[in-house]
Amino acid sequence: RVVAVIMVGGPTKGTRFRPLSLNVPKPLFPLAGQPMVQHPILACRIIPNLVQVYLIGFYEEREFALYVSAISNELRIPVRYLREDKPHGSAGGLYNFKDYIMEDDPSHIVLLNCDVCSSFPLPDMLEAHKRYGGLGTLLVIKVSAESANQFGELVADPVTNELLHYTEKPETFVSDRINCGVYIFTPEIFTAIQGVFTQRKDTANMRRMNSFEALQSATKALPVDYVRLDQDILSPLAGKKQLYTYETLDFWEQIKTPGISLKCSALYLAQYRYTSPHLLASGDGTKSATIIGDVFIHPSAKVHPTAKIGPNVSISANARIGAGVRLISCIILDDVEIKENAVVIHSIVGWKSSIGKWSRVQAEGDYNAKLGITILGEAVAVEDEVVVVNSIVLPHKTLSVSFQDEIIL
Ligand code: GDD
Repeated sequence: RVVAVIMVGGPTKGTRFRPLSLNVPKPLFPLAGQPMVQHPILACRIIPNLVQVYLIGFYEEREFALYVSAISNELRIPVRYLREDKPHGSAGGLYNFKDYIMEDDPSHIVLLNCDVCSSFPLPDMLEAHKRYGGLGTLLVIKVSAESANQFGELVADPVTNELLHYTEKPETFVSDRINCGVYIFTPEIFTAIQGVFTQRKDTANMRRMNSFEALQSATKALPVDYVRLDQDILSPLAGKKQLYTYETLDFWEQIKTPGISLKCSALYLAQYRYTSPHLLASGDGTKSATIIGDVFIHPSAKVHPTAKIGPNVSISANARIGAGVRLISCIILDDVEIKENAVVIHSIVGWKSSIGKWSRVQAEGDYNAKLGITILGEAVAVEDEVVVVNSIVLPHKTLSVSFQDEIIL
């Protein structure tokens, strides 16, 4: 039996995702028309003997309640949200719900970060993990040497795939192989986390005895029940024949900013060609708009037949796209209205926003730059014939003149 756990974090986490995380918890932000967290959930569904998916986070219960019950019914696998009262770290959060997770007596626990975009090769990883026979297996990918320091860098044995060395976001270069935030563990992981708690308590007691040192380290010490999977578990267990790696050659991205979410939306749309072609708009039929490349259109959205859409466009529920509109590389959220002959390129258009006739909302499309894509927050109104370029617009603004390279507060 296998239990999957997806770490969704909480409201203090998604700050770089503003203004899009002001309305919806980041894990529920749609990529390729489906909530971010749904992509790993769908990937878990094909694991043999999967009995339960838990989402662990410190968002309010009600923010996930509707989603979790809808998706459980739709996918016919039990998905449940478990709320932490406060952040306990990625391993501490897992440990907190040990009793729930162990209720199904799983032989393996699949642990996933919610904010990664991947093809999640979980069945193959599970097979590899069983062959290695260790406590855990990490999904690993090769990235550019310049970007590696944003991640956990690691060294693995090229023959046995054993994890030999692990450093979280090091200052000096260690390796261009990085931790993807996707793991398979045996239930012994809980013993390893318990070991860190015990060690912490012992150190805290020692310090109490030595009051000078206590003063010095009081600000540095982490709470006893806060355990990070990377620094506190992976680093010390490396090179002890307990952890192994599984390298993917497929796509992988970390989703920390709205710019990257546009790139990830494209990756998931491209994946639909193989996994769910029925989700891609075909453009067949005389009444349909012209479709170019990978496009998702929610069945409730209304798109005028003279509009031209794609590539990399996803249009959410109840959006209305007028005559002659051109959309390229964008995410159009629920209840948006785009009027005649407007153009949207490399942008995210927030819930209930409207874009006037002949207006342009666009950006250069540098996904890594701060203003590389244009973002309109919730209920922004761009009036007719207004041009918005490389800008971020906070919710509820009305733009009657044009802007470029600005954050409009
Ligand atoms: N429930 C819960 N509680 N979730 C948490 C907590 C917590 O206290 N802290 C973090 N998370 C979740 C985040 O939402 C995210 O999905 C995941 O755990 C990891 O978050 P961080 O611990 O903030 O690490 P990171 O995202 O900067 O880096 C980690 O992931 C990278 C891959 O995306 C590290 O493991 C890196 O080594 C790795 O490369």
